[in-house]
Amino acid sequence: MSVIIAPSVLSADFGNLQRDCEMINQSDAGWYHVDVMDGVFVPNISFGFPVMNVLKKHASKTLDVHLMIVEPERYIQRFAEAGADVLTVHYEASTHLHRSLAEIRKQGMKAGVALNPHTPVSLLHDIIQDCDLVLIMSVNPGFGGQAFIENTYRKVSELKEMILQRNSQALIEVDGGVSESNALALAKAGADVLVAGNAVFATPDPLATIAALHKTANS
Ligand code: DX5
Ligand code: ZN
Repeated sequence: MSVIIAPSVLSADFGNLQRDCEMINQSDAGWYHVDVMDGVFVPNISFGFPVMNVLKKHASKTLDVHLMIVEPERYIQRFAEAGADVLTVHYEASTHLHRSLAEIRKQGMKAGVALNPHTPVSLLHDIIQDCDLVLIMSVNPGFGGQAFIENTYRKVSELKEMILQRNSQALIEVDGGVSESNALALAKAGADVLVAGNAVFATPDPLATIAALHKTANS
């Protein structure tokens, strides 16, 4: 399977969201990455259902929703109704993770778990077979445009090993500070999905940047 590029809508132009959706629809991106922040789990507030409605209307690719919120289990059904295809909750925000993942699947979505930079991969040992995706945060969640944390390579390799050993089908997603400079090394370490916000939208030609990222990650 080729590495999927998932542009992060957080870095898009909200005054021209339809235009940016059309750009992503035409691009080599496989997924849309959608960051929902509540100002409690992370020190920032992004957006919620009104923006999900715009994406549902204009996006023609997988909606990969990353919940950076406390008590994410309260909103599983709402995000299913809002059109999420993949729904990822944070390990650190979930007391009953097994129940939440089962509920996400029951609502017809792929179930993901995200790990903050300080959370060890080994904590997933007893839940990895219930995950469709594991998101490794390669920055502290809350903001786009931060510097990539180098320890991520080691975490991705360790996770890949666990997935193979435990016969899990989970995809590995890396989120934060991804660019053309680290995309290939992340793919080689075992990443299946690369999120890119600033690296795509801060360039003059985002369409060309997505193509270059896709090519580099799959080279
Ligand atoms: C950070 C978000 C990321 C963010 C990535 O909390 O989860 O998805 O949009 O942005 P960049 O690629 O700019 O680091
Ligand atoms: Zn994210």
